[in-house]
Amino acid sequence: MQVYYTKENISEKVHSLKTQGKSVGFVPTMGALHDGHLSLVSRGFEENEFMVVSIFVNPTQFDNPEDLKKYPRTLDRDVALLKTLSDSKILVYAPSVDDIYGNNVISERFSYDGLEFEMEGRFREGHFDGVGTIVKRLFEIVTPNFAYFGEKDFQQLAIIKKLVENYDIPVTIVGCKIHREASGLAMSSRNERLKPEYKLAAPFIYKTLVEAKAKFGTKSATKVTEWVTNQFKAHDLLELEYFIIADIETLKPVKRKSKQKKYRAFIAAYADDIRLIDNIALN
Ligand code: PAF
Repeated sequence: MQVYYTKENISEKVHSLKTQGKSVGFVPTMGALHDGHLSLVSRGFEENEFMVVSIFVNPTQFDNPEDLKKYPRTLDRDVALLKTLSDSKILVYAPSVDDIYGNNVISERFSYDGLEFEMEGRFREGHFDGVGTIVKRLFEIVTPNFAYFGEKDFQQLAIIKKLVENYDIPVTIVGCKIHREASGLAMSSRNERLKPEYKLAAPFIYKTLVEAKAKFGTKSATKVTEWVTNQFKAHDLLELEYFIIADIETLKPVKRKSKQKKYRAFIAAYADDIRLIDNIALN
């Protein structure tokens, strides 16, 4: 499997493939790949002959330096996993910080029509400027026809769609369903850092979302939020950071339910020092 370490090399390769009329899909990742990432790559092969997977732990999107330091870096294992899908049709781009940022490791500032002020934006300062900075640069370098993002990071997906619209970037964004472990826990690179008792406890997050969805059929968002908050208060190991039922277009918390709108419930919770997020479509 070909691994590209510089933007010039990967750009040139993609350019030559596109000149030959091949469609190129893209899955940007921060590595520590799992089945969720592989499902995005497999999904990409439905539309594209070649897939680029970038593996880059982007420093500007971390609000917590400890989290950045501890983020797993497992390039050899990642490449081996991707090989199980295809050896010749996947191109890995694994740049250094220098290749992406030179000696200017800072975010650009972005406006995403207010989407950035909700949920993750309230709890992770500067996070979406960092995400916008890296995703925009990666799109400019890789120039894919399609790019694939998981709905686990639903707010990120909405923000990237807005970024592409605002900057007129010629790529089609495809949102993909959340991939879950058998226990229901949403797949995440962070899961492998969970201590055994927290790994056992973490599926409670999805279980609560499923129950919240059922309650939302007959109860108000306020009542469901109260119920979820109490569920977590009574839990010994998991600490709720937020539970929000939001309109999927604006990501603003729902005030009064409307049949015309679509809603999703979002959770961020700590399992020890590991922050986990998940969400579910409500209607
Ligand atoms: O979702 C992620 O893993 C990251 O936020 C992304 C999109 C690869 C940008 O660093």
